[in-house]
Amino acid sequence: MSSELLRLHEVHKHFGGQVVLDKLSFDVAAGEIVGLVGPNGSGKTTTINVISGLLRADAGTITFNGAPINALAMHRRAHLGLNRTFQVPKVFRDMSVRDNVEVAALAAHAPLDTVDAVLDEIGLRDVARRSAGSLTANQQKLLDLGRALATRPKLLLVDEIGAGLNPAELGAIAELLRRLAARGIALIVVEHLLEFLGRITERVIVLGAGRMLFEGTLAAAARDPEVVAAFIGG
Ligand SMILES: Nc1ncnc2c1ncn2[C@@H]1O[C@H](COP(=O)(O)OP(=O)(O)OP(=O)(O)O)[C@@H](O)[C@H]1O
Ligand SMILES: [Mg+2]
Repeated sequence: MSSELLRLHEVHKHFGGQVVLDKLSFDVAAGEIVGLVGPNGSGKTTTINVISGLLRADAGTITFNGAPINALAMHRRAHLGLNRTFQVPKVFRDMSVRDNVEVAALAAHAPLDTVDAVLDEIGLRDVARRSAGSLTANQQKLLDLGRALATRPKLLLVDEIGAGLNPAELGAIAELLRRLAARGIALIVVEHLLEFLGRITERVIVLGAGRMLFEGTLAAAARDPEVVAAFIGG
């Protein structure tokens, strides 16, 4: 029995004539943090989209907990314990912070005491009655993360949560992500900020034009000629 929680096998995605994911294969174990990096347009968000079910892969297999999920709609994947955040946080701006988390918990059939635990976890209990639209960019990212956490994921896909944050905010998010992993939640973290990534994981996957260029430690990636060329070219 494999310990892999998620397995991608030769996953392919194209938009019109453009190949965006090219035979992408990798595994993620339970409770593991994997960094997903690559130049702009290399397919990071598309990878998250095909895993979460926002987009369907055109070919290849995605297996979660040993079962193929390619054909499942996004909400079915969320019920299995697979959820994501968005590069641009998706929150209901006119609803309160608490209601945003509550709606996510209800949709996932999670008990409502989950909501308080999530608000504490993301540090937004004090602003729970405010409208989501009145929050800072950092708080909206935390709320987007909280909405995903309310579905009680086993695997959380995090898309550029660090972008635009100040050093203190980055430090707090790094600590939060490490805490989630310590609780057994696996994370795929898409990030351009390599220093931030280095604080939460050693293992990275590097994409270049939809292909896996490298898989290994962050330090080794930085020395890999193909990786360096992709970043300079990008
Ligand atoms: N819905 C779509 N329709 C057409 N092309 C798309 C679509 N989504 C993404 N693409 C294209 O697919 C490629 C990969 O995009 P993707 O958003 O996955 O890149 P990324 O690595 O997340 O980039 P960034 O670092 O800028 O967020 C890009 O060339 C992009 O323009
Ligand atoms: Mg992206």
